[in-house]
Amino acid sequence: MTARHPLGSDLTNQRSDRQRRTDRARSPQWKEPNPEDSNGKTIYNLVMPKKPLIVRAHDAVIAHLWDGGLAVDATAGNGHDTCFLAERVGPTGRVIALDIQECAVTATRAQVEDAKLSERVSVFKADHANLLDYVPESWIGKTSVVLFNLGYLPGSDKKIVTRPETTVSALTASLSLLAGDGILSVLLYLGHSGGAAEATAVSKWLEELPVEHFAWESIGSEKPNDPLRHKNATPILTLVTRV
Ligand SMILES: C[S@@+](CC[C@H](N)C(=O)[O-])C[C@H]1O[C@@H](n2cnc3c(N)ncnc32)[C@H](O)[C@@H]1O
Repeated sequence: MTARHPLGSDLTNQRSDRQRRTDRARSPQWKEPNPEDSNGKTIYNLVMPKKPLIVRAHDAVIAHLWDGGLAVDATAGNGHDTCFLAERVGPTGRVIALDIQECAVTATRAQVEDAKLSERVSVFKADHANLLDYVPESWIGKTSVVLFNLGYLPGSDKKIVTRPETTVSALTASLSLLAGDGILSVLLYLGHSGGAAEATAVSKWLEELPVEHFAWESIGSEKPNDPLRHKNATPILTLVTRV
């Protein structure tokens, strides 16, 4: 079976189908399809990773962070990801975090203060579509990590969610920030209203990335709308790097 992006495009634009099959066959996450599992419906041979995808996202970005690094948290929320980034860039690194909600900005600032990381973090109440208005020009082409954790703020108004148009604008802006060895991490969720439309927009955006400049891979359920998975519509993690 050919591995496919959860919403239709290739799972990665980088590796051949054969390479991907070999990679997965070697991976502990790989399991051969078992028709018994499917109740007679088609099943998919890409299983959900055992680690939560947010942990996978953190694992992926750690490799791109070092003391003195620059990082952007495009969806600050409760500040967990902001603190994660701030700890890893060290005292001489800098993190910029954005969120459209006042409560998220307050929560993030509080988390950052509690963790004694305030000197290396700036938090703005802003739409990430306007990311480049908040990030110094000197960060263009020098930023190690841009992190998106899309959807709604847990414990808050679930109607305030990231939206396809602003997400796509922000993703495009993020690419201009990325250093040669930087990484863009995008975690999106399909379970909330608007989640599928956002996933479709991100998928289309990925398909249009110039392959000579960017490589990407996505991890998650192969077919999120499968009735077998519907109850727990799965998240999808996409990682973009420069070629
Ligand atoms: C899943 S939460 C982020 C979780 C967060 N990274 C953390 O560590 O707690 C998604 C956040 O995106 C924010 N958001 C929604 N639309 C946004 C936009 N256009 N620009 C910036 N933030 C946005 C929401 O307010 C919400 O806090």
